[in-house]
Amino acid sequence: MSSSKPVAILGATGQLGSDIVRAAAAASVEHAALGHDEVDVTDFPSLERAFSRLQPSVVVNSAAFHQVDRCEEDPAEAYRVNAVGALLVARAARTAGARCVYVSTDYVFDGKREAGSAYDEDDPVAPLNVYGASKAAGEQLVAQALEDHLVVRVSSLFGVAGARGKGGNFIETILKKAREGGPLKVVNDQWMTPTSTADAGAAIIRLATGDARGVVHVTNPEQCTWHAFASEAVALAGLTVPVEAVPAATFPSKVRRPRNSALDTGRLSKLLGAPLPRWRDALRAYLAAKGHLN
Ligand SMILES: NC(=O)c1ccc[n+]([C@@H]2O[C@H](COP(=O)([O-])OP(=O)(O)OC[C@H]3O[C@@H](n4cnc5c(N)ncnc54)[C@H](OP(=O)(O)O)[C@@H]3O)[C@@H](O)[C@H]2O)c1
Repeated sequence: MSSSKPVAILGATGQLGSDIVRAAAAASVEHAALGHDEVDVTDFPSLERAFSRLQPSVVVNSAAFHQVDRCEEDPAEAYRVNAVGALLVARAARTAGARCVYVSTDYVFDGKREAGSAYDEDDPVAPLNVYGASKAAGEQLVAQALEDHLVVRVSSLFGVAGARGKGGNFIETILKKAREGGPLKVVNDQWMTPTSTADAGAAIIRLATGDARGVVHVTNPEQCTWHAFASEAVALAGLTVPVEAVPAATFPSKVRRPRNSALDTGRLSKLLGAPLPRWRDALRAYLAAKGHLN
């Protein structure tokens, strides 16, 4: 066991957090996994206590309140966790002499770009909903609190743990419905870049332990619609249920969502020396890990 300063990982029991922890272990990077029961990002003394004990070199904050509908209903809580919490983590990191990595989202963009194009890190943010606005505020507060910071934007996560560690995500929902015989109606006019938390976790550990600063988009390359993503999962799992393509307007919602929030990953490829696997390959690896392939 090396005696270097650890990477402290907040939100460590979450879908992405648990894969960041796994990636750190796989790369033999000294780390400390901090769950919500140990550290609350909205509780500055709990952060100070943890960091003064651990003396981390880097703090990776993947904790969030990210249910988009609930954020809209409870904006105070969204800002408390995603913006003020991000600031408190960055301040506590600064006090401990650590750098800070904040996990953000494609929902900071308004999604008005034409299909086929993707947002790069220098595009201006213009969130459409409370969740996106609270995360954009988090990005700005982290940057304001600590020069040595990195914002990593991920999108449309799929990982073995599932959101909040309970096995749920879009792919699991689709496969469950398909196994029940359908019907499956999936949106075909919203574009995004799916992100495997296994791939993103490994990339985030490499970036966190390097010296990249500013903003980096961390997703599997190539964009698709939710319909294409679902159809591929159903086909790879060997299911024959039809997947109907429908417009987003089929599912009325009080919350506005970006039409095209695909993220460009050119900067990530340069920093890592190669792109992450394409989302179709990442999806196949995920389905294999979950036992969905025959
Ligand atoms: N899921 C997506 O598709 C998606 C897309 C774009 C960006 N992101 C971003 O990616 C990150 C990870 O998302 P995820 O899907 O891995 O979420 P997740 O599974 O819900 O994990 C979030 C973790 O944060 C913890 N947490 C919540 N409030 C906290 C607090 N006040 N203090 C400390 N920990 C707290 C949760 O613990 P408890 O469950 O015990 O409260 C949970 O373990 C988030 O920053 C999110 O905004 C996610």
